[in-house]
Amino acid sequence: MTAPLIDPFARAISYLRVSVTDRCDFRCSYCMTEHMTFLPKAELLTLEELDRLCSTFVGLGVEKLRITGGEPLVRKGIMTFFRAMSRHLDSGALKELTLTTNGSQLAKYATELADCGVKRINVSVDTLDPAKFAEITRWGRLPQVLEGIAAATAAGMKVKINAVALKGFNEDELFSLAEWCARDGHDLTFIEVMPMGDMGEAQRIDQYWSLSDLRARLEERYTLQDLPDRTGGPARYVRLKETGQRIGFITPLTHNFCESCNRVRLTCTGELYMCLGQEDMADLRAPLRASADNAALTTAIRSAIARKPKGHDFDYTRQKVAGQMTRHMSHTGG
Ligand code: GTP
Ligand code: 5AD
Ligand code: SF4
Repeated sequence: MTAPLIDPFARAISYLRVSVTDRCDFRCSYCMTEHMTFLPKAELLTLEELDRLCSTFVGLGVEKLRITGGEPLVRKGIMTFFRAMSRHLDSGALKELTLTTNGSQLAKYATELADCGVKRINVSVDTLDPAKFAEITRWGRLPQVLEGIAAATAAGMKVKINAVALKGFNEDELFSLAEWCARDGHDLTFIEVMPMGDMGEAQRIDQYWSLSDLRARLEERYTLQDLPDRTGGPARYVRLKETGQRIGFITPLTHNFCESCNRVRLTCTGELYMCLGQEDMADLRAPLRASADNAALTTAIRSAIARKPKGHDFDYTRQKVAGQMTRHMSHTGG
């Protein structure tokens, strides 16, 4: 038996998030600048290399694989990769194969994804107002995303909506977002905005809307019942008694969830980040390319996990941004 991956704080690592590309067809203002420079394509691991890396992690006890980006569905040949990963679902080694997407390409790929065993996907929708959607994503178009969500649902996948809580932007849509999700049967998760990338400090603090406040506002209209449900990520859920729907909260700022962290992140160039909110990473590309045998790679993975930090240092109190990362979210895939 191979020993499972356990970090220095006795957390078992069972969830791998893989960013298959840093590119995206949107430019969400809290995630990217409008004129991002992307990695030269030659820097990217091939899909075969990503397969070997992910399969090694699966062999070491990873049970949940989430494909992210940038926008994962803009990577050329990505369905070949999903098809390849689905063999680990068939063997029973992997419990969940899923993705986080902006939804722009879903109409095209929903059927194939479902066919690869993807049962549940997360789609980002911060606003239901087409003009505001175009403003926040800069390049995105809401009808295309809604069409993608409808296609995913029709293909039998469960869609969870991710909305970043943004002060002065979607505060007024709290109830309309909730009602839309209740009507269409989607779980909805709100996320506190994290200081990733090079946005100015004042701008970050201005856009930050704490989920403690958001929750209090929900309670003005609904009865919230805390749930023990876990979906494998950091969200904590409540049920709205009146509608029966489930709403999640991801609170890196107000309630740190790092003590139960079960995940690491792999970038499209083979860097392994042990924490979203820390700079330390391990290069897995060199051991991967050094030999066709996985021994060196496995050693590199184990020694990286052995230095997984306790948690992130994000903090906006005292009117300052602490724990700021220069890395963009699209680099590590959120
Ligand atoms: P589920 O499988 O539905 O539980 O998904 P998930 O929440 O793990 O994944 P998703 O890609 O939808 O991520 C939602 C948000 O949670 C993103 O903004 C991520 O950056 C954030 N997130 C996920 N894991 C971590 C983490 O370890 N630390 C921090 N700070 N944020 C995280
Ligand atoms: N803070 C919080 N969430 C973010 N996302 C992207 N950038 C940030 C940020 N700075 C979200 C996206 C997507 C998920 C992968 O991460 O909206 O839902
Ligand atoms: Fe693209 Fe997602 Fe970043 Fe928006 S949040 S620019 S959709 S990677």
